Amino acid sequence: MAHFTLPIPEQSTEECGRGHACGFCPLEQECRLDKQAHNKTLIEARLESIDQIVLVLANKGGVGKSTVAANLAAGLGARGFRVGMADADIHGPNQSRFFGFTGARIRVSERGLGTKDYADPAMAHDLRVGSLAFMLQDDETPVVWRDAYKHDFVHHLMGSFDWGPLDFLIVDMPPGTGNELITLADLLEGCNVSALLVTTPQAVAQMDSLKAARFCLERGMPVVGCVENMAGVTCPHCKGSFHIYPDAGLGEQLDRLGIPSIAKLPLDPALAAGSDDGKPLVLNPAIEPAVATAFAQVVDACASLGRADFGGAVARTLDEVFEKNLEDADLEAALAGMHGPVRDSVRRTLAQILHEESRRLHGASGGSEESQ
Ligand SMILES: Nc1ncnc2c1ncn2[C@@H]1O[C@H](COP(=O)(O)OP(=O)(O)OP(=O)(O)O)[C@@H](O)[C@H]1O
Ligand code: SF4
Ligand SMILES: [Mg+2]
Repeated sequence: MAHFTLPIPEQSTEECGRGHACGFCPLEQECRLDKQAHNKTLIEARLESIDQIVLVLANKGGVGKSTVAANLAAGLGARGFRVGMADADIHGPNQSRFFGFTGARIRVSERGLGTKDYADPAMAHDLRVGSLAFMLQDDETPVVWRDAYKHDFVHHLMGSFDWGPLDFLIVDMPPGTGNELITLADLLEGCNVSALLVTTPQAVAQMDSLKAARFCLERGMPVVGCVENMAGVTCPHCKGSFHIYPDAGLGEQLDRLGIPSIAKLPLDPALAAGSDDGKPLVLNPAIEPAVATAFAQVVDACASLGRADFGGAVARTLDEVFEKNLEDADLEAALAGMHGPVRDSVRRTLAQILHEESRRLHGASGGSEESQ
């Protein structure tokens, strides 16, 4: 049952405080508030409580975006991060199945659309899943939406789902560089957002995936790296490894674009079985070592985004604190009692400490002073 107990403010300039878009509001007809302003405030508030957003994408269909996204989300969860999984694939939402929520429906409350929360003993926090699949009549209903609705859906996905505070929101993108990607790139401008590229080794998949990478680079969205999926397979009988797809020189292409190759994920029937059964393989202790290593590399690369920004944020805060203190009236008053040259020397020493500490933190975060 939905609960709507908040009163509607009477002034059109007031904010109603509801955590969902007006389209989900039972009061929409009678409400006279500024609905556009409400929807904008809603998205801003949600994004403010999400530290890092990672879009998992490839221009091409079927290369393993959803598989990588689900296992990345679960892998980050197993490292103790608070993680959400946003399924932005309107036509083929898979994350409900990958986390065992096939057929589940959601509630709308004052806080927003309820996510489905996936629990596992390996994860300190439940993983929050938001998907269009939770809003369909049934899982077989095909979605035939015009672009305007798609635009709205992407807004609802980010703004109306009750994500809560998150360290990472992983977004499973549909194939292509169409409406959903452009809308998201616009919506997330100014946020800590990165793209994770997925491709398979053959030339046709690479060509399409690299198009998606170029789109991100043109939009100024950093690409954390590329996962080469279905890169080799181990024979279950003789245990020898071989490649199904020809290698079309992905490494050189990535080098040219300045995108790191972060992992080679082999074909593994257990990966598909884990997705079908609603339990990401990365949480299964019986995972093949080569698959575990590949996912650990993907998780490491994304986890470092959070740490890099944390280090950078601390360094920037320290800069500000020291800057303020050096001009602070109390500090100046304390320095005023000192003999001239001593005062100048103390001031210089403080500035030096600030400078060195700031440099150390920038170094630890992998950034450079010039880029901060
Ligand atoms: N490394 C792998 N080993 C075995 N099966 C895999 C692997 N990667 C993906 N698959 C399987 O391949 C199929 C397609 O994967 P997935 O749905 O993740 O691709 P996608 O890029 O998200 O597709 P779409 O473009 O339709 O969204 C799924 O059945 C998945 O289980
Ligand atoms: S219609 Fe929109 S602005 Fe009005 S009460 Fe509902 S959510 Fe708030
Ligand atoms: Mg998919």
